[in-house]
Amino acid sequence: MTIDSKLGSIIDRFDFPGILGDCREVKTGHINITYRLRFALPDGATRDYILQRINNYVFKKPWEVMENVQLVTEHIRQSMTRQGIDPKNRVLRVVPVKGGGNMVEDGDGGYWRAYDYIRHAKTTDRVESPAQFRQIGAAFGQFQSMLSDFPIEKLHDTIPHFHDTRKRVGDFERSVQLDVAHRAAGVREDIEFIRSRGEVMCRIVDMLNAGDIPLRVTHNDTKINNVMLDADTGEALCVIDLDTVMPGSALYDFGDAIRYGASTAAEDETDLERVALDMDLFAAFSEGFIASTAARLTPVELENLPVGALVMTYENALRFLADYLDGDTYYKIDYPAHNLDRARCQCKLLTDMEAKRDGMYTTVAALCRRFT
Ligand SMILES: Nc1ncnc2c1ncn2[C@@H]1O[C@H](COP(=O)(O)OP(=O)(O)OP(=O)(O)O)[C@@H](O)[C@H]1O
Ligand SMILES: [Mg+2]
Repeated sequence: MTIDSKLGSIIDRFDFPGILGDCREVKTGHINITYRLRFALPDGATRDYILQRINNYVFKKPWEVMENVQLVTEHIRQSMTRQGIDPKNRVLRVVPVKGGGNMVEDGDGGYWRAYDYIRHAKTTDRVESPAQFRQIGAAFGQFQSMLSDFPIEKLHDTIPHFHDTRKRVGDFERSVQLDVAHRAAGVREDIEFIRSRGEVMCRIVDMLNAGDIPLRVTHNDTKINNVMLDADTGEALCVIDLDTVMPGSALYDFGDAIRYGASTAAEDETDLERVALDMDLFAAFSEGFIASTAARLTPVELENLPVGALVMTYENALRFLADYLDGDTYYKIDYPAHNLDRARCQCKLLTDMEAKRDGMYTTVAALCRRFT
């Protein structure tokens, strides 16, 4: 292990026990820079921690991100303790900075935070079985349900308008009109696909604005690889990657998990024949999620969970296509038409979801009856 003096001085400022024995980069993440630190304790035992540089290109106010993370993790810890669940290894714990605070500024504009290491755990990028996806659904559902009594006004809106579908539709229209990369003429049908669904996809923001569904603490990045699973049993242990925790809707978290995890293909599959919603995976995730949220979410939220899947898929299609029209300024691309391929893949997934909409509602309704 060689660690440079800059990293060493950052580590020094956290309240870690013992002597640093090992530091290695964890390469699985895409957004943050992550290290695993191992400390030797006086009694010969070792203790591991995660050290992460917060991506301050995405998050302009990292201290607000950390305030959200701190509040939410403490709330979950208290909820678990009240319910007789040992929170150790089940919820992230922020390591304090010596002298107070929860984040270290490194002098170069970088911000760092540390967590207890979730032991004996792994993540997966692809769903391996319906049973595993049910576990993931239960973990995100439990996250939602533990936070159902959280005072939402305490949370910062760290990415304003993140799921403001109406604003996203407006931004999309502007990209079409400006057509800076001169690509609009080549994708007329794709633009029409997005345009024709603009109004109906604002359903969740409309329900929130009308007060039909409440604002909830929302994870906002409910990909399967943000749940740590027991390395042996595969049991879901802990929801991680809490940077995008904000006020939102439970439908977003449900929907994005389905969009990403219950698709039969990767996000940029070009053979659209292969892109579909896997109804077995949909049912499995829904079962886990609804079993752990049925007592906490309102009947209107539960009944409308499938809307989340449609809206999240639509938003992604819209954003990929807008970025293609903008000349690929937001998402990293591997080849010139990458964003267009991603957009078409999401449009195909959405088309399939629309065809299976009744099935999704029937499945969700049956699960709601079973668990309420
Ligand atoms: N507390 C923890 N304990 C053990 N491992 C962790 C912990 N936090 C993060 N990790 C590991 O580091 C990886 C990256 O973490 P995280 O998801 O927070 O970062 P990210 O860069 O935002 O990832 P993403 O690619 O999802 O955007 C995780 O996949 C996991 O393997
Ligand atoms: Mg992650």
